[in-house]
Amino acid sequence: MREILLVDCCVRREQSRTARLARAFVEGLDQERFSVSVVRPDEERMRPMDGALLRERDRLLEEGALDRPRFDYAHQFAAADYVVFAAPFWDMSFPAFLKVYIENISVEGITFRSTETGLEGLCKGKKLILLTTRGGFYGGTDMDQGSAYLKALKEFYGFGEFLCVAAEGLDTGVDPEPLVAKAEEEARALAASL
Ligand SMILES: Cc1cc2nc3c(=O)[nH]c(=O)nc-3n(C[C@H](O)[C@H](O)[C@H](O)COP(=O)(O)O)c2cc1C
Repeated sequence: MREILLVDCCVRREQSRTARLARAFVEGLDQERFSVSVVRPDEERMRPMDGALLRERDRLLEEGALDRPRFDYAHQFAAADYVVFAAPFWDMSFPAFLKVYIENISVEGITFRSTETGLEGLCKGKKLILLTTRGGFYGGTDMDQGSAYLKALKEFYGFGEFLCVAAEGLDTGVDPEPLVAKAEEEARALAASL
């Protein structure tokens, strides 16, 4: 079985259009070949990296205690064959809960390591995928700091490829339904192609 890790940051849950893309993606997977684990950072006890958390992390890393429960998310992320972020476009990027998740999984010795020539990704994932919906039109521009940042993280963690499926212009006064439906189809097709 191949492991898909779905990081669900669709905090509006049932009302979320982005969550529809995530559901379509999961439906498109060959259920015989893939198992899906879901993490919802806003429902987990995940905290931003304050001073105390950082100090504790440094101490544990110095001791080589990578088996502590607080590193479970990082191990899960590093081991996944595919990671899918489902996150709406907020304030030119994505919800803070996704950044909090990223802070928690960025652990030296698990998801990346330092070498003499720089940082090197340790994740075994083939693809890092972003499923998103946007109120306006920003894809492919510098205003879209969400997919640009996650594409950079793909390099940092050592994934093979970054892919993004987006529905745009949902809050521009037009009927958003066909736009979401088209992106759902793209998400389903992407999953079926894995
Ligand atoms: C807190 C917040 C911030 C947002 N910021 C932006 C933005 O910067 N640019 C934009 O085009 N749309 C923005 N939107 C609109 C959302 O991108 C759009 O409605 C999206 O489809 C919401 O996804 P959801 O239905 O999965 O919650 C924002 C929405 C919220 C709630």
